[in-house]
Amino acid sequence: MFTTVLRPALLAASRSPRVQRTVTASAATRKLVRRFVAGESEAQAVAAVAALRESGRFASIDYLGEDTTDIEQARATVSQYLSLLAALGELPGSADAVRPLEVSLKLSALGQSLPRDGHAIALEHAHKICTAAAAVGVWVTIDAEDHTTTDSTLAVVRALREDFPWVGTVLQAYLLRTEGDCRDFSGAGSRIRLCKGAYREPAEVAYQDRDEVDASYLRCLEILMRGDGYPMIATHDPVMLEAATGFLRAGRRTADRFEFQMLYGIRDDEQQRLVATGAHLRTYVPYGDQWYGYFMRRLAERPANLAFFLRALRPG
Ligand code: FDA
Repeated sequence: MFTTVLRPALLAASRSPRVQRTVTASAATRKLVRRFVAGESEAQAVAAVAALRESGRFASIDYLGEDTTDIEQARATVSQYLSLLAALGELPGSADAVRPLEVSLKLSALGQSLPRDGHAIALEHAHKICTAAAAVGVWVTIDAEDHTTTDSTLAVVRALREDFPWVGTVLQAYLLRTEGDCRDFSGAGSRIRLCKGAYREPAEVAYQDRDEVDASYLRCLEILMRGDGYPMIATHDPVMLEAATGFLRAGRRTADRFEFQMLYGIRDDEQQRLVATGAHLRTYVPYGDQWYGYFMRRLAERPANLAFFLRALRPG
């Protein structure tokens, strides 16, 4: 019922302006959002990053926003990132040469979905952000969005890597194409974040069955871990975490040649446990007031998240 009815309904709602107006107007929702989002302001995000680093974790910071259809909004997003990078540059030890801080970008927030020249505009904006990131020693990883954007996103990543070879990107195991993309991006210098995928995708391009997605994730993980790049294993799933840890135990990868990644507010105890084992773990820290799409995808991921949300909305 959750997977066949509620999950698709929540993912459809994540792109509905009407539902967005209702959900974001609710005070109870705004309180709950804080479980998954570090805050609305840059200062709150930077404070969350500092706290994570105190606990031995690395961080990737995402200024929330997506599907921008207005060039001014895309430019404003670039300005936010430039301001964030300046603030991160002020944190002591931010430019750790081995494992720097990272920002995550959604190209659709930078103009990729603009009707005219969206691809070129997103590339220009991302290039500007990468230039500023390089100046303060912070990494950039480009998030993966729905499958209609994958070709454009990977083309932007390839173009950026000509000037900034450390730029990383995300590949989604639920897409049928991703095993091939993992092979293409498993070479030296490549940084790939492997996740299952969070959007609603048709059967022509994506596995629909959870077991098939999991099997694909394990095949992709194997390709990346056997390759010469730097895999970023983004999951909360014990089976996937164990598969990656197996490479460590067998001596096929050392702890400094890959990292785990998890979302802010999810499995915090497991994040800390992994750090205590000596593994490298990065927490993805979203902030900003455009949290609606991100929040709805988190509800769609897990019955327990949805139940928590519905309980909080119940009067009395
Ligand atoms: P999944 O949701 O399949 O759950 C599997 C199992 O994990 C559960 O049965 C349970 O055992 C355990 N588990 C999961 N959540 C738990 C919880 N809260 N408490 C206890 N146990 C829990 N997606 C995308 O499309 N584009 C992107 O760019 C990104 N970026 C990204 C970055 C990072 C750092 C992460 C961690 C994830 C993403 N994602 C993403 C989201 C990703 O695609 C996916 O939707 C979520 O990570 C959920 O999938 P999981 O692999 O975590 O497990």
